[in-house]
Amino acid sequence: MTAVTEAAASAARAASGPRIAIVGATGAVGTTMIELITERGLPYRELHLVASSRSAGRILTVADREYAVRAIEEFDFSSVDVAFFSAGTSVSQKWVPVATEAGALVIDNTIAFRMDPDTPLVVPQVNAHVLDHRPKSGVVSNPNCSTIPLVRLLRGIEDRWGIRNAVVSTYQAASGLGYSGVEELQESSRATLQDAGAEYEPHHFPPGLAFNVIPKIDRFLDSGFTLEEEKMLQESRKILELPHLDVTTTCVRVPVANCHSESVYVECQSPVDRAELVEVLAALPEVEVHDRETPTAFPTPAVVDSSDLVHVGRIRSTQNNPRAFWLWLVADNLRIGAALNAVQIAEELIDRGTL
Ligand code: A2P
Repeated sequence: MTAVTEAAASAARAASGPRIAIVGATGAVGTTMIELITERGLPYRELHLVASSRSAGRILTVADREYAVRAIEEFDFSSVDVAFFSAGTSVSQKWVPVATEAGALVIDNTIAFRMDPDTPLVVPQVNAHVLDHRPKSGVVSNPNCSTIPLVRLLRGIEDRWGIRNAVVSTYQAASGLGYSGVEELQESSRATLQDAGAEYEPHHFPPGLAFNVIPKIDRFLDSGFTLEEEKMLQESRKILELPHLDVTTTCVRVPVANCHSESVYVECQSPVDRAELVEVLAALPEVEVHDRETPTAFPTPAVVDSSDLVHVGRIRSTQNNPRAFWLWLVADNLRIGAALNAVQIAEELIDRGTL
């Protein structure tokens, strides 16, 4: 295609694209979503950026065009076909019903509707087929940031060997709590470096994330697990359509700005050959395997930041159980764990003509 016909084709695609709103456009996930929409050329005929009244009138530039941020209270959701929500659970609880009532299809990044039977919970590489029809609730939920990369690997493992159980520990970055989470990590680290005995009043990460790790994310449940750990179990079961899947998790916040890591132990129904496991994982969509023969033998958050792939390393068979193995994964939680997954849901909906 010549440059002229390519430009004409892209203009035609945009003209037929949906009218989009991004709610939470000034936040960490919203900003990443704006980057991704541009990078991936998601077609849209109109774009509206929405946040709280604090940001109303702020100008943001998207693909060389300036947009004024609108306060959610002033926004008319009947003017859009699809609304991405990444402004927190209480905002979704209040405003998603308003948006769906007005006719918009919502792609929601919070826990608010994930377990609702009329709301599909989607990781496009795993269960895009549930997007063949417009959901009854008018909402498609984006799963928890640690669940998304995990189920993308578990799908391939289940299909080849059958999963008997999995034991997961997460190492989750501060950006899971948005810009203010990253700021708290930076400020508390600076304060501690200047004076190891400094008093720092943590807001997001008590008792303080600087030079620390915290084995608690979200609130404690009566079971002794945290809500984050429960989310990983229930959401994995729903996405993989395996209601009895046995996954048990310890979720830990670590002093990393961005990218979640997970240590994963899986016991399968039948023996697993390590070489074949490497092949199966490497063949999964948008997964990069760092095997021990290569120079970058294992992925780390600092190395894979801003990547649109799930990175896997440390793949090793256990000595005493031929059905079991360990692996290590790292994924950008703002992209893969939130914004990219949401944009890929929209791409699937557009391809299927559901939007
Ligand atoms: P604002 O910047 O106006 O506060 P993060 O996850 O980085 O903390 O960002 C949260 C996002 O959610 C921001 O865009 C923020 O907008 C938005 N937000 C927070 N509270 C509300 C609210 N009550 N109504 C609409 N948007 C909100």
